[in-house]
Amino acid sequence: MNAHHGTPGIIVLPEGGYRRARAEITSWPEYAPTPLHALDMPGVASVHFKDESQRFGLRSFKALGGAYAVGRLLGHELARRGTANNATSAALESGQYAHATDQITVTCATDGNHGRSVAWGAQRFGCRCVIFVHENVSQGRRNAIARFGAEVREVPGNYDDSVRAAQRAADDNGWFVISDTSYPGYTEPPRDVMQGYRLMAQEAFSQIPAPPSHVFVPGGVGGVAAAVSVQARRDAPGARIIVVEPEAAACLLESAAAGEMRAVTGDLDTIMAGLACGEPSLLAWQELERGAFAFMAVPDEAVPAAMRHLAARGVEAGESGVAGWIALESALADPAAREGLGLGADSRVLIFGTEGATDPDLYSRLTSAPAAAQP
Ligand SMILES: Cc1ncc(COP(=O)(O)O)c(C=O)c1O
Repeated sequence: MNAHHGTPGIIVLPEGGYRRARAEITSWPEYAPTPLHALDMPGVASVHFKDESQRFGLRSFKALGGAYAVGRLLGHELARRGTANNATSAALESGQYAHATDQITVTCATDGNHGRSVAWGAQRFGCRCVIFVHENVSQGRRNAIARFGAEVREVPGNYDDSVRAAQRAADDNGWFVISDTSYPGYTEPPRDVMQGYRLMAQEAFSQIPAPPSHVFVPGGVGGVAAAVSVQARRDAPGARIIVVEPEAAACLLESAAAGEMRAVTGDLDTIMAGLACGEPSLLAWQELERGAFAFMAVPDEAVPAAMRHLAARGVEAGESGVAGWIALESALADPAAREGLGLGADSRVLIFGTEGATDPDLYSRLTSAPAAAQP
């Protein structure tokens, strides 16, 4: 339980920035809201599952953040260089400024989905792109990034080591980091990334028949949970935000327990690859330290069964996408957790299913017969 829930704090994501992000992303030709499914779960009044498996064909909500932030960066850079004052994404996509943008390189670290979004944005808007991955990022995820024309570089260590490698490469080469995590002295692209994520939350709050009482959202560095928390303050006041991490990488839970930002170290090895982050994002933490109602950690062993359960109901949910579902099931099975969260027969639950089959081979292995369901 978050002892500081509901205390006043700073505004991390100003409304003007969100209006800009929403106007931009909804103007992209391929834009369409993703579906919200009603699912059965005994013990609560309703469960709705926001299904990000088809977002812009990238199969995760991350498509909303990184690609948008690449467009913003290029717009700023073209203005700073005196090339164009208000380069729209349509103008960038048309190749009008290709002579300038192809001199610009964006970079980031990723465990899969964010890098795919940045690579997609770079390809659409016409700049170069180098993506850093750590040793445990699957070949399927690397290939998906490379398909957008990005160079993929492997570095030793875990996700947090790859974040530092991307920053070092940017410093050495004059590249631009488009990270989904923020740290002291580096906040603006991640703020744009999180503003993009808010669109997913706003869609869900407008699709759901009645405002949710409980919202389960996965946590990696905390960016998407913070974006949901900010949007809930506007669209679903009073909803309890529950942030869900893998047991092996529960840095937000550790931070909440300590009352200050804390890192967890080690190889952060979890099947929930998108959540394998050991260090909270500074901006995300500034929101979640007061916006989150509770933090939960869930075990890897529960992932295949949850994926199969949802697949059997026609919902494609990848390894990180089932974290919220697992958390709800396990909280309902535990009287103390149920009581602490206030979950009961009148609860209306919203779960963010943040990815589909982002690694199709792994997805089909995990959702096939239980005997074969090993990573
Ligand atoms: C599918 C999926 N869900 C959730 C997250 C967590 O997002 P954040 O790192 O912003 O907390 C990620 C991060 O990569 C992800 O890929």
